[in-house]
Amino acid sequence: MAPASYAAAVRPPKDFFRPLALGAPEPLRQIPFRPSRMIHFLPASNPKLVAKVPTIAPTVDVLLANLEDGVPAADKEAARAGLVEIGRAWDHADTQLWTRVNSLDSPWGLDDLTAAVSEIGDRLDVIMIPKVEGPEDIHYVDRLIAQLEAKARLERPVLVHAILETARGVADVEAICAASPRLQGLSLGPADLAANRRMKTTRVGGGHPGYVVRQDPDPDDAGRPRPTYQQDLWHYTLARMVDACVTYGVLPYYGPFGDITDLVACEDQFRNAYLLGCVGAWSLHPSQIDIARRVFSPDPADVAHAQRVIEAMGDGTGAVLLNGKMEDDASVKQCRVVVDLACQLAARDPELASAYGMHS
Ligand code: GLV
Ligand code: MG
Repeated sequence: MAPASYAAAVRPPKDFFRPLALGAPEPLRQIPFRPSRMIHFLPASNPKLVAKVPTIAPTVDVLLANLEDGVPAADKEAARAGLVEIGRAWDHADTQLWTRVNSLDSPWGLDDLTAAVSEIGDRLDVIMIPKVEGPEDIHYVDRLIAQLEAKARLERPVLVHAILETARGVADVEAICAASPRLQGLSLGPADLAANRRMKTTRVGGGHPGYVVRQDPDPDDAGRPRPTYQQDLWHYTLARMVDACVTYGVLPYYGPFGDITDLVACEDQFRNAYLLGCVGAWSLHPSQIDIARRVFSPDPADVAHAQRVIEAMGDGTGAVLLNGKMEDDASVKQCRVVVDLACQLAARDPELASAYGMHS
């Protein structure tokens, strides 16, 4: 049985999908799948970049107008105005528009949320909330957005995405996921998380050359060099995040990779996240857009292999030998994950559809 504190923190099942304000739209029962391989960050305070939105938007799955970290304190109002300008002019049905508001403990968070929902709530798909610590943060945002939606007479709910970037947020990740039907997804925020955990890195995501495992000494040759193998600093958090997301039906994302000149390491980090179950990552620079598109779309060779296994497995039960490998009920399920994702992406991407031999 769930502990009493957990039961008390979650609305009763009969009320869970009730709007939180009179006149607010019904919460969704399921988070709709829309491609979001890259969440492309654009500083909404930069007029030059805001003017480029019509050319950038068609090249990405998600365009995010950033109001939080990276925008100087003096430019917070300008960023909010930039978001509203982008939203009012938004005309890109195949690209999602998201924003990242300032944190709930900042002097800007409330005005950001109010402007986002009241001014452009009908265009905005998702609001990213940084530094989420626990379910109480989601409850606060959930009710506030419902009130604003009701006031603006919105017909569909604005979804919420939480960044996991404090130790308490990681410790509370399941409760965060369970807090609201509005929760669309979670991103790992490695930079803030490292600071909050008092890790001794000074980077935005990625590995560290000091975080290694060393091979055992050679008993016959004490002087023989012992190679080291760099480990993934983010494996534990990402894996934990993916489990929580799948349990509660929300989507997991890797966050930012700060070294925009190191395209190889960026690709490795994104691919680890993809293989572990994430659906996308942030792109901080145009050079990362193509990496994310390539990495978070199944490889055509994997799709072809998965299709062969599915075909060979007939009704999906039993076992077959294919190229010397045993395939059974469980491997065919993995293959379906790959093929289903390929179909969903191909439906919106004619280039991928032809690479997969599917019709979009
Ligand atoms: C992202 O916001 C991070 O802190 O890594
Ligand atoms: Mg952060």
